[in-house]
Amino acid sequence: MKKIIINGGKRLSGKIKIDGSKNAALALIPASLLTKDVVTLENVPDISDIHEMLDILNILNVSYEFIDNKLTIDSSRIINTPLIKKNIEKIRASYYFMGALLSLFQNVQIIAPGGCKIGNRPINYHLNGFRKMGINVNEMDNVFNMSYVILNNTTIKLPFPSVGATINLVLAAVKSDNIIIIDNISCEPEVNQVIDFLKSCGARIKKIGHNTLIIIGTAKLKGTTFKVMNDRIEAGTYCILAALLGDNLLIEGINKDHLNSLFTILDKVNADYFIKDNIAYFNKSNLNNPFEIETSPFPLFPTDLQQPICVLGSFLPGQSIIYENIYEDRIAHIKELNKMGADIKIFQNKIIINGRTPLFSNKLKAKDLRGGAALIIAALSAKGTSLIEGVNYIERGYPNIIQKLSNVGADIKMEDS
Ligand code: EPU
Repeated sequence: MKKIIINGGKRLSGKIKIDGSKNAALALIPASLLTKDVVTLENVPDISDIHEMLDILNILNVSYEFIDNKLTIDSSRIINTPLIKKNIEKIRASYYFMGALLSLFQNVQIIAPGGCKIGNRPINYHLNGFRKMGINVNEMDNVFNMSYVILNNTTIKLPFPSVGATINLVLAAVKSDNIIIIDNISCEPEVNQVIDFLKSCGARIKKIGHNTLIIIGTAKLKGTTFKVMNDRIEAGTYCILAALLGDNLLIEGINKDHLNSLFTILDKVNADYFIKDNIAYFNKSNLNNPFEIETSPFPLFPTDLQQPICVLGSFLPGQSIIYENIYEDRIAHIKELNKMGADIKIFQNKIIINGRTPLFSNKLKAKDLRGGAALIIAALSAKGTSLIEGVNYIERGYPNIIQKLSNVGADIKMEDS
């Protein structure tokens, strides 16, 4: 079992470079199957979730090469085979094979998606959207069978701007003979990436206003080369760490427009930083104000940074409050932080952080990806030696994290026993 061992309390200086976006790349891999030509994706992060997706390509007889963050996919010999193996359940993004395979073969058999246990994560918006398009959806023992003869011209209004449902419905619609309108779409940058990618393959997708898509089906899409954007959540995680421990610490590869909601909070708490081009420069901060945050769809504060920013709250005077509006159970980190000396309470979706409380090292367990990142930030900020288990969760989404942190002076190592 892998463990991360951190001797905390050290200031960090130097440069951390951000990798490509996990959630964009995870959607772009199934999207790449929609053309039988070769697709090259650049800046793909080397993380375990991506390797899980590549394992699914093996099942589908799709060939690929993944070297130095460049992923070349050749799906000219793709076969439609049931995706029901247990490992497919491990990741959330496996649901994108629903849309992609429906588009290619008009039918799919696939096990329900998994992912981090951060709440009840239904896929009813995906399924109801498919049904509205004219797709028959049946579920038995956690396996979905879906098929159609022709799709309907239709308008689908999502009840909530879901990232996954928006992308899945676009994938299902993009090669049809019809016009499909999707309203109340997610405006997350990762969704825009998929739209831009499909357009570069020749798809006809139009955005009307900021949250409606018109998809005019295009039977044949062509291959392309596409650069995945940088990961705004990896960037945000390291910026939170830098606000706590940075002393001439540079976070390189940031798109400020993707993280305005975080920078507003960092301004509020008096973090000492500035941004020039795509680099955030952090000096030693004299943090001195609490914050109030509501997690919401983009461009508001992302739920994926709720767990890391809880740690920051513990180092601020007064009471910081977070309303977690997206996932009802994204709270596994709180018990661990309280073990370290934090004073964090939860009332329904309201997280109350009473600061300032020094954190002390402890034996900790990550139970999900972003919660794991929060524990790393906490252990780096705490005096003494902490041990973190549940490393497999962290490896799902933070490429090369031990090396990146060691390079800037963190006393961190991984042991595999
Ligand atoms: N929802 C439904 N029904 C649906 C779909 C969503 O009720 O059919 C609800 C969810 O339960 C949640 C909300 O709508 O309360 C938003 O869910 P969304 O569909 O937007 O999330 P997702 O597509 O499952 C992606 C990311 C998550 C990220 C969310 C929100 C991927 C693979 N996952 O999940 O990333 O938190 O969008 O931005 O893209 C992570 O990276 O740590 C992570 C969890």
